[in-house]
Amino acid sequence: MEATDRASHGAHETTKAALTATDGAAEGTGAGDQFDFIVVSNRLPVDRCSADETGCEDGWRRSPGGLVTALAPMMTKTDGAWVGWHGAPDETVKPFSHGGIDLVPVQLSTEDIELFYEGFSNATLWPLYHDVIAPPEFHRAWWDSYRKVNRRFADATIRHAAEGATVWVQDYQLQLVPKMLREARPDLKIGFFNHIPFPPPEIFAQLPWRRAIIDGLLGADLVGFQRSSDAGNFMRSARRFLGASVKQQQVHVRGADGEPTHIARAQAFPISIDVKQISELAKKPEVIERAQQIRRDLGNPKTILLGVDRLDYTKGIRHRLKAYEELLQDGKVTVEDATLIQVASPSRERVEQYRLLREEVEGTVGHINGTFDTMESTAVRYLHHSYPIEEMVALYLAADVMLVTALRDGMNLVAKEYVTARTNNDGALVLSEFAGAADQLKQALLMNPHDIDGLKDTIMRAVNIQPAEASRRMRAMRKQILDHDVDLWSSDFLAALAEKVIRDDS
Ligand code: F6P
Repeated sequence: MEATDRASHGAHETTKAALTATDGAAEGTGAGDQFDFIVVSNRLPVDRCSADETGCEDGWRRSPGGLVTALAPMMTKTDGAWVGWHGAPDETVKPFSHGGIDLVPVQLSTEDIELFYEGFSNATLWPLYHDVIAPPEFHRAWWDSYRKVNRRFADATIRHAAEGATVWVQDYQLQLVPKMLREARPDLKIGFFNHIPFPPPEIFAQLPWRRAIIDGLLGADLVGFQRSSDAGNFMRSARRFLGASVKQQQVHVRGADGEPTHIARAQAFPISIDVKQISELAKKPEVIERAQQIRRDLGNPKTILLGVDRLDYTKGIRHRLKAYEELLQDGKVTVEDATLIQVASPSRERVEQYRLLREEVEGTVGHINGTFDTMESTAVRYLHHSYPIEEMVALYLAADVMLVTALRDGMNLVAKEYVTARTNNDGALVLSEFAGAADQLKQALLMNPHDIDGLKDTIMRAVNIQPAEASRRMRAMRKQILDHDVDLWSSDFLAALAEKVIRDDS
């Protein structure tokens, strides 16, 4: 880790020895380093691994995902660091460097995971922000834990932020951090990006701590959202619950003493994917061969339909299975002609709603297969696993039709990955209008997943699409994504954050 030597900020002047003590057992690992650019997210972009696994270095492997790819160059160019949880409950890990990125681990206890992560983040905020598809639970002990853990992330960031540093906080688990940073360190440039939807005020109103959340977010100079409707929802809530005067998606924020502190702006920055990585994989002979093998293993059906999701109730997996089952019942497709591959990667398995969903999905898959399978052919090939990106791209290449039937989704990067992998401009994307990706992929076969008849019709349109129409749609979608990859997303956000905002007090 590169040590830095900068002037500390007034009241936060700290010595390396003091920082080392606060950070736990860290010794000579850069615990006292300060950085010009800090990303803060619930999880660090690394996972634990064992030495024999590929990509494993000193017990850590970079976790897959566009965010880290997009930010890694920025990290090295600007002397950056990443603050987040390292994934091991109750374990204190010293700051360390991995793959050229400086990492500052934040500890979470088993109780924090239960109350802050599984509780407030994923059983209160997650369902509330996703159109209350599952009923959110409101518990004061969860909220207390959310505040306490947000404070811990803010404190770690404050210790490691150099004078005037840029801090970019990620996602709904850390919505109180911007204000905590602002109060302690008015010298910082603070950005926040919400990866999931922001609900309309009529739904957000249910949250007993709605004012504190809005206030927390308004600590940022720039609050980024996936869709402009999310930014609009946020500003409407700021107006309704804090009485903020909003002009052109801006709020003039005042401190506890009533003095103006900064202008908070809200804006859409639709996230994207690592286009280069997916495009290159899609052209690799071994990936192409693997795609052909997947088709052969399934008995070379005429059509392979594919669903790839975290096993989450927001993804509309039940709706997709229902539509497919009815198509089999109606004789519109047969198991000899068509197979649905459903990859459902394990997620948040200790949260009740996720346990229930798994039982329901697996029961339905068993029922469909029991009814329609033959000795040679299967209706649904269900895989409750996560796969490396190479295997995912092979699946994208093997699939004629991609089904993204989310009931609500911030963006849905699987849709963008599928389109990017279709370098021959073939294949069809069935896409829910409730996924953020629908704002950019307008040439997808868009549908409302609640409308099962409409979903069935759209699936049949995709199955029977003419090559010329498929190619026209795919070309247009590919152009959109190729022109807007995740690097552009992060550079656009950071450029907007760096912009000087003109005060308009009129
Ligand atoms: O979409 C929000 C998000 O937090 C992503 O950042 C993450 O990949 C996914 O949900 C799963 O999150 P986790 O396993 O950390 O709960």
